Amino acid sequence: MDGNGRWAAARGLPRVAGHRAGAQAVRRTIEAALQHGVQWLTLYAFSSENWRRPEGEITDLTGLLRHYLRNEVTELAANGVRLRVIGERRRFAADIQAAFVDAERLTAGNARLNVTVALSYGGRSEIVAAARRVAEAALAGTLDPAALDEAGFAEKLFTAGTPDPDLILRTSGERRLSNFLLWQAAYAELVFLDVLWPDFGAQHFAEALADYARRERRFGARPV
Ligand code: FPP
Repeated sequence: MDGNGRWAAARGLPRVAGHRAGAQAVRRTIEAALQHGVQWLTLYAFSSENWRRPEGEITDLTGLLRHYLRNEVTELAANGVRLRVIGERRRFAADIQAAFVDAERLTAGNARLNVTVALSYGGRSEIVAAARRVAEAALAGTLDPAALDEAGFAEKLFTAGTPDPDLILRTSGERRLSNFLLWQAAYAELVFLDVLWPDFGAQHFAEALADYARRERRFGARPV
């Protein structure tokens, strides 16, 4: 979800106004996903690297997150959304961590749309954490290194039990993954849109799905 800062700057507004408008775009995107029958949606809301931003902006972003968790989860639950949070949850304030647990508990019975929010998330550190868990299990004698396969490794990632993304969409004209779901993105189709995240809406979502539908996915196999 890229381009909140540029959206605000273009209007002479503080960056937080861009993040607020970005939160509205999150709402529209979840509605669009529900309408299209998409079952899995992951939102990259805060990267491990975002902690390097000025303290004021971090306070604004965590404030928005707190607000969102307090005010939106009931409605999400009523719409059949199941919420999950991936990332270094412990870096957030205790009340936000508690809100993650509450939101996950409240929505655990839902299956219409699975929304995963990546917060303090970085793909490389996720892979290192998974490797550490594998090494610990091997040392403890509960895992035979020779028996470890891709599926077994994937079970050690934050995303254990969830499918790999079919489509990754990035807004604002940047054409990078920026440490997002590096392992899971192995065969994802990539769509880059020039629109800034706060302007993203149902029409862009539909266009991205149509673009995806035109791609031929071979997963490394020869065309038939
Ligand atoms: C990237 O734009 C966006 C972020 C770092 C924050 C994303 C947060 C939201 C969309 C709002 C809150 C989300 C939830 C789930 C409640 P940028 O600031 O890097 O923009 P720039 O590249 O134009 O500076």
